[in-house]
Amino acid sequence: MNLNQKIKGINFKNPVLLASGTYGFGLKFKEVINLTGGIITKTITFKPMIGNPPPRIYEFEGGIINSIGLENPGVKYFKNKILPNLKNLNTNLIVSIGGNSVKEIIDLIKTLEDEIISAYEINLSCPNVKEGGINLGQNPLIVEKILKEAKKITKKPIIAKIPSVFCNPIEIAKITENNGADFITITNTIPGLVINIEREKPFLGGISGGISGPFLKYYSLYLVAKIRKIIKIPVIGCGGIRDYKDVLEYLFCGAMLVEIGTLNLVNPFIVAKIIKDLKEWGKERRIKNIKKIIGKIEIEI
Ligand SMILES: Cc1cc2nc3c(=O)[nH]c(=O)nc-3n(C[C@H](O)[C@H](O)[C@H](O)COP(=O)(O)O)c2cc1C
Repeated sequence: MNLNQKIKGINFKNPVLLASGTYGFGLKFKEVINLTGGIITKTITFKPMIGNPPPRIYEFEGGIINSIGLENPGVKYFKNKILPNLKNLNTNLIVSIGGNSVKEIIDLIKTLEDEIISAYEINLSCPNVKEGGINLGQNPLIVEKILKEAKKITKKPIIAKIPSVFCNPIEIAKITENNGADFITITNTIPGLVINIEREKPFLGGISGGISGPFLKYYSLYLVAKIRKIIKIPVIGCGGIRDYKDVLEYLFCGAMLVEIGTLNLVNPFIVAKIIKDLKEWGKERRIKNIKKIIGKIEIEI
């Protein structure tokens, strides 16, 4: 099965992308990264962020809860010290950007605009300090402003990674499309809390965290199936993928691409197997092109 797709001018050798925050900045395991359709680097902010105190990860049967807290070295370090090491990547380099104001996101794009980057993924789940910590992406007016301003200053494709709770994800998806987003990623982690009963306080150093992993697939898949009927821009499915069968579920529901996150923390080589399995699955069924299976199942929800 030919897994290659050209979408919005970007050539994806296969539909499997590495989700932001789960493969660092792409400096390690380059041979694995080069097998994928692209890497989305850890979200960077304009200024460096030290992140949350430990513990930062809690594991449970269905996944993990992380409270990394957007630890990153800031855009200047990223541009001067990290990007030069990524010039010879043989796949798409997608840079995840975030901030707690519209201005911060626009300043980030301005700083990176001359760099060789396939696309930006805007992480709309960054907390807005001024609005009492709610995520930027949960406020439709802010989402509209971010997309509008960003489209004015960049010609690179923009992927809007939307939050999916404490907002109407369908409304947010529509707003990103109406304001020029080229792709939409569904979904980021959803908020969670764990209590340490011995110590009588929250377990995570950052108090609350983001839940990801296998359990998330069922909610994310539902959203992908629903939202892709409402918008025309390509949807990237993200959440809970463990193997090629999970990838197929997303593709059948209409996602053109997928992102794999938590699984990379368990095994950084597993994406290579998933891509191989996907190819073999198609070959066994004599399916010539991946396009034949995208959105194959008609779902009315
Ligand atoms: C440890 C960790 C760090 C993450 N950091 C980011 C990040 O910096 N930016 C972002 O947009 N998403 C981040 N995410 C969310 C993932 O990119 C992904 O959207 C989410 O984990 C759901 O996919 P999964 O179930 O395959 O992990 C992070 C997830 C984990 C587990």
